[in-house]
Amino acid sequence: MDKLKIHGGNQLNGKIFISGAKNAALPLICASLLTKDTVTLTNMPMLSDIKSLNSLLLQMGTKIDEFDDFVDGHPTKTYSYTTLEATSLIAPYDYVRKMRASYYVLGPLLARYGHVELSLPGGCAIGARPMDIHLSALEQMGATIEIKNGYVHADINGRLHGADIIFKVASVGATCNILMAATLADGTTRIENAAKEPEIGDLIDLLNDMGAKISGRDTSTLTIEGVESLHKAIHKVIPDRIEAGSYAVAAAITRGCIELVNAQSSTLQTPLSILRSMGVEITEKDNSLIVDARGKKLVGQDIMTDFYPGFPTDLQAQFLALMLTAEGASMVTETIWENRFMHVPELMRMGANINVHGHASAIVRGVEKLSGAPVMATDLRASFALVLAGLVAEGETIVNRVYHLDRGYEKLEEKLRGVGADIERIKESDEAE
Ligand code: EPZ
Repeated sequence: MDKLKIHGGNQLNGKIFISGAKNAALPLICASLLTKDTVTLTNMPMLSDIKSLNSLLLQMGTKIDEFDDFVDGHPTKTYSYTTLEATSLIAPYDYVRKMRASYYVLGPLLARYGHVELSLPGGCAIGARPMDIHLSALEQMGATIEIKNGYVHADINGRLHGADIIFKVASVGATCNILMAATLADGTTRIENAAKEPEIGDLIDLLNDMGAKISGRDTSTLTIEGVESLHKAIHKVIPDRIEAGSYAVAAAITRGCIELVNAQSSTLQTPLSILRSMGVEITEKDNSLIVDARGKKLVGQDIMTDFYPGFPTDLQAQFLALMLTAEGASMVTETIWENRFMHVPELMRMGANINVHGHASAIVRGVEKLSGAPVMATDLRASFALVLAGLVAEGETIVNRVYHLDRGYEKLEEKLRGVGADIERIKESDEAE
């Protein structure tokens, strides 16, 4: 397995281009299953999660064309998806196990074909990851759901029908799945307590371009009037707000100055306000964001994760790492996932001072210095927090299990090296030599 070797201590300065959002791209890819026409997605990030989902669609009979493309002079990918007729309605365990978001095939395939078999994803490093909200909503829309041998068997006689659905939790995944399913249902579906994350807005934009009738974008009540069929569309994926937030922390933690090109500051207001109250200077421009912490003494702040527009759980680990370099104590509270402090024991091995209380809260105290160490994390965002700690630690840090980072951070070493970090990938094959 590849590793990252980091020599800490360099101040990071320069520009980083922000890629298309992974968590927007994944449901957008599955939305293409709703039509026999071609759906083209531009500004797609080159990530292993995208490749995994593409391979699931390929085995379902989707034709995928890949093109090299440019956004603002930066290389990206464009993918075209055409599912004339699905040849398989099964999402097997091996795909869903690797890529939880494979469950986004459920809503589209059920709505178009009336049958899906989806392996249940099971829990993961950050929590139990249930699907009860997705399944009960589909039942309210007339589907018969049966769990057999670890698989969800979903069937519908005829078409799904519209329903008034109230989500018990504003789940991102369930909102995407039910939005997609409802586009081809008979009648009107109303979702109350829908998630409002920007990735949902991006999905609504694509679906409406494909001919869907969805209103209520950016609010917690979504209304979907079902239509007979959807058609082709071309759509540009929004910039990744979590990638942008992660590199904003890279600027702050190294007391450097980074311009995040193609970042959408409107989607980052809560994390940016925390950075500002810590003492970081932020300049918001039309198409970029400048994060300047040069010469600044940062002060710790409390953060509590919440549904959008609250503080994103996917930036919790990175901000926790930043608080280690700030003055005073900061309380970090995780409210979305029940097991999202797995980075803490690894950071402690680098000299961090953190007390975790139960599953939900951690008190982080600023320390004089962190020291490099071999570390490893159990999920994507926690791995980035270790990279951040490595960037300021004295000496060498080896971050193991880089495959977590490859799932969600495009060209990570290249982007960090471009702003002055001393970071390199040790390939498994190099190690063996
Ligand atoms: C999405 O996961 C993201 N993943 C996650 O990012 C992110 O942490 C999460 O939203 C919250 O923002 C993708 O977009 C692919 P949820 P999702 O359904 O949709 C509970 C990353 O690092 N819940 O909004 O799976 C659940 O247990 C990843 O990129 C139910 O109870 O999250 C959790 O407490 C990690 N029943 C809460 O809702 C359900 O049926 C929010 O989960 C579904 C969810």
